[in-house]
Amino acid sequence: DKIKLFAPATVANLSCGFDVLGCCLNEVGDEMLISKNSEQKLRIPKITGQDLPLEVDKNVAGVAAKALLDELGEKQGFDIEIKKNIKAGSGIGSSAASAAGAVFGINKLLGEPFSTNQLIKFAMEGERLASGNAHADNVAPALLGNFSLVRSYEPLEILSLPSLPEFRILVLHPLIELKTKDSRSIIRQNVALTKAINQWGNLGALVSALYTKDYELFGRSLKDEIIEPVRSILIPYFDELKALAIANGALGFGISGSGPSVFAMCKGDVVAQKLKSEFQEFYQDKNIDFDLHLSKIN
Ligand code: HSE
Repeated sequence: DKIKLFAPATVANLSCGFDVLGCCLNEVGDEMLISKNSEQKLRIPKITGQDLPLEVDKNVAGVAAKALLDELGEKQGFDIEIKKNIKAGSGIGSSAASAAGAVFGINKLLGEPFSTNQLIKFAMEGERLASGNAHADNVAPALLGNFSLVRSYEPLEILSLPSLPEFRILVLHPLIELKTKDSRSIIRQNVALTKAINQWGNLGALVSALYTKDYELFGRSLKDEIIEPVRSILIPYFDELKALAIANGALGFGISGSGPSVFAMCKGDVVAQKLKSEFQEFYQDKNIDFDLHLSKIN
């Protein structure tokens, strides 16, 4: 009557796919322990690693779990314990991991009344609490793995896309906290048609590259003329890091989710390891504290 699970970090947007594309990092994530209780109550008795609210209505995992239980009219109580390894406000789906993990675990303990895809809409309620907007580009890949594409929000339709075996993603997190709510508030609400044309051309090509296993096409398509120019201003040395990534053979480079983390997509371990040291040296030289993760995507 209990389940222990790994709730993965995710990189949303992937440059050209603002609010519709994300991928799952298989080596970075939280640990969760979910168990049935006999109190008919949803509780969050313990969170370690981060200072987060234990009140169910103020916690993303609690809100997501409650959405699922309400839809079923389920009275069974659950205890959700979370060991946070992902820092809040880092841009790699910290809230999404907790929300996705909670609904995944509870669904399993209830005998899987919902498919994994159907769990996305409950986990999105956690995102609504965290950022004021119920986007799915972190929770979907956290639940489904690999890459996910939101074809439509209303009605909700989410497609699972394959990953490529040699993808290595480096995520560099300058240790400043950036709230998704804040970094959404600076985005312009209107897009010039010429920019939109480039953006959907790139997004289509990026999806195609996953199916044709074309790493170079994937890299060429990792571009964003709409959001990145605005948000990158909040990230220390963004342009220099991007130049460093490309000079060291990365396929592409961009902002991870709403930042401040950035990501470099690489093909193979050799390129990724070399770039990892370059990033380390660069931020150390500038006296900027950081975390750096290297992961596969699946
Ligand atoms: N797509 C979202 C954004 C992801 O960029 O604001 C952040 O969680």
